[in-house]
Amino acid sequence: MKILAILYNGFKAAEEEPRLLGTVENKLGLGPWLDSMGHTFIVGDLFSFKEGADSDFQKHIVDAEVLITTPFHPGYLTRELFEKAKNLKLCVTAGVGSDHIDLNAAVDHKVQVLEVSGSNVVSVAEHVVMSILLLVRNFVPAHEMIERGDWQVSDITRNSFDLENKVVGTIGAGRIGYRVLQRLLPFDCKELLYYDYAPLPEAAAKAVKARRVQDLKEFVSQCDVVTVNCPLHEGTRGLINRELLKHFKKGAWLVNTARGAICDKDAVAEALASGQLSGYAGDVWNVQPAPKDHVWRTMKNPLKGGNGMVPHYSGSTLDAQARYANGVKSILENYMAGSPQDPQNIIVGLGKYETKAYGQR
Ligand code: NAI
Repeated sequence: MKILAILYNGFKAAEEEPRLLGTVENKLGLGPWLDSMGHTFIVGDLFSFKEGADSDFQKHIVDAEVLITTPFHPGYLTRELFEKAKNLKLCVTAGVGSDHIDLNAAVDHKVQVLEVSGSNVVSVAEHVVMSILLLVRNFVPAHEMIERGDWQVSDITRNSFDLENKVVGTIGAGRIGYRVLQRLLPFDCKELLYYDYAPLPEAAAKAVKARRVQDLKEFVSQCDVVTVNCPLHEGTRGLINRELLKHFKKGAWLVNTARGAICDKDAVAEALASGQLSGYAGDVWNVQPAPKDHVWRTMKNPLKGGNGMVPHYSGSTLDAQARYANGVKSILENYMAGSPQDPQNIIVGLGKYETKAYGQR
């Protein structure tokens, strides 16, 4: 069997740190195991695999049976590539979030798409809480001031607040969104809200004291902090755009660790520059790796703060890498043995969506 994996180069870090499993060098820890069974395991990095019609990705996809990708440095599997991938049966996302695969094309071509559901949801939820705090407390400019050798406290405190008594809302209250709400509970926020077409079970909503708001404009107009925790699909691409940003509370904070393309890049940068948003933080970008001149790298609010952007890593802690590497292995084991897969991992089954999280159909 030919298995193709698109990971990313870890270079020196991957040589020094074997727990960096998501790298080309460490091959999700699968190399010796797959080799011992005589499978052909081709591992490549984003750059050599992605670019051009004669790239390795295009060459190997033609007869690969399994494709493994990570959302962190995704190999985009387009409908056009599905047409070429005549032998492809299974796509495995090492992590959570399979929007880099044309899921409708996977349905049409009867290629299954599986994720390692839950593998990094705590990692992301922790990052969300950290990002909310660093924006609300104006942390980044305070640290930059210290590095510069300055000490002008009032320049920081003029835009620094407590999270206590603020209204925080999540768009998407699935595994990550719910864990964010759980982690926010001890902060004594004024209210915790959620917007999701799938309502939380009553007991779960009660446990985190979360109120559901069914209209998105209503929802954002009530929040001091909005966090985005839904997948990217037809219904969420560009969801946070110029029009919706007008309905945000003036000076709200926005945290997005879900997918960059859920937010309109330029609309966010403008809202931050005008002060409509006080801050924007996250680790996901509409293009990854983000170009050097991407406006989100340097955008600022009128007080020269409010930017908490980092590269896509919130779901790729070493703890998370161990979990998603193990999860990929067990998906492959099931596939090879013809055993049923864990239902929660199946995004696209044979010719149909098996999850309700990638849009209402
Ligand atoms: P999940 O499937 O448990 O929950 C997603 C929730 O979003 C579901 O409750 C679903 O009903 C809701 N949803 C879908 N469309 C919506 C819409 N239009 N409006 C409101 N809610 C909507 O997924 P999980 O594990 O919570 O992950 C969510 C997303 O987070 C992933 O799809 C991925 O894009 C992103 N993610 C990012 C990571 C990172 O490293 N930055 C790592 C892991 C996930």
